[in-house]
Amino acid sequence: MTPREDFHRLYSAAQVDAVADSLSLRAEFPYQLTYLGEGSEMWRAGEVPSNPDLVPMLRDINSLLTRHAEQLLALAPPSSPVQIVDLGPGTARPVRGLIRHLLERTRLAGYRAVDISAEILELARKNLQSEFPDHAEHFELWQGDFTGPDLKRVLAPERASGHSGGEPFRFVIMAGGTLYNFADPNQVLRHVRSAMSEHDVLLLTLRIDIGADRPAFMKEVKVGGAHKPQQLAGLDLLGIDRSWYVTESGFDRMRSEIFVRARFLEPVTVAFDAAGGNRAVSFEPDDTVVVWRYLYQDSAAVADQLSDCGLQVRLLERGEGSHVVLVAATPTP
Ligand SMILES: C[S@@+](CC[C@H](N)C(=O)[O-])C[C@H]1O[C@@H](n2cnc3c(N)ncnc32)[C@H](O)[C@@H]1O
Repeated sequence: MTPREDFHRLYSAAQVDAVADSLSLRAEFPYQLTYLGEGSEMWRAGEVPSNPDLVPMLRDINSLLTRHAEQLLALAPPSSPVQIVDLGPGTARPVRGLIRHLLERTRLAGYRAVDISAEILELARKNLQSEFPDHAEHFELWQGDFTGPDLKRVLAPERASGHSGGEPFRFVIMAGGTLYNFADPNQVLRHVRSAMSEHDVLLLTLRIDIGADRPAFMKEVKVGGAHKPQQLAGLDLLGIDRSWYVTESGFDRMRSEIFVRARFLEPVTVAFDAAGGNRAVSFEPDDTVVVWRYLYQDSAAVADQLSDCGLQVRLLERGEGSHVVLVAATPTP
């Protein structure tokens, strides 16, 4: 079988190769690519979750940057202008309160966002325009992949507007657990760290394991449970019919990861028209493909991970429900 007709329209040749590589090497559809096209609408719709149990957690994680804005500002040199660089802004919902806080104190030196999805950026642009009509035209929204060479461009040093005429102080933000959806978060963290200057502060908002209220499927794999539409969007694009697999949610103890995966009931071969020629990826009945993952670890493990990647935790604040945290980290000298 071949992917749906819009698959090759949606993805660049490099992204088609990345999908084929990820499927054949890791048996995974790269989740970040599901934000493109219709996936952006699914993401936006998911901001108001159909499961009411998730509403307080989302509210909590989205308010972290706003609630701790003053503490974050205390990490900047007094009175210095602050630039925000938002890696994967989504609809820009979590960052709006921080922008407002900086504007009210005339401390905002600029807002720049980079997202892999043009459609997501359009949602962010509309929201920012309606919330900050007098400022949004100066905000920069760039399409790009922050896990690759685009990041150097996004974080290229800018002179003149900073304190003492040097580089501006920057908050580099990865909000909403984005980091922990990647198969190799350490590689992404090291990449971000290598593009940061010594003046930058990395801000993460994450859901963490507090040892209580854990998802039920951490005990055993749940078959056919609820899944978000976006989690199946990649397989839909490949033309894989939903009746050819069952979904499973569970916890991989070795990797400390919550996952959603598809387990095939039928043999499936997908033929790609890739940059380097045609290639095919095959699955047998009982093979699995990961469609979503989330590294689920406690706050001590988060701090260790940052330290392994050359970053030092400067602030770690729990959300009101305690399942989510705001972490601020600076490059280790
Ligand atoms: C989990 S959402 C978080 C959105 C937002 N920060 C929030 O907290 O609501 C992940 C966002 O990162 C973007 N994204 C994921 N991987 C990316 C990548 N490699 N490069 C650029 N953007 C990416 C997605 O398109 C999406 O907007």
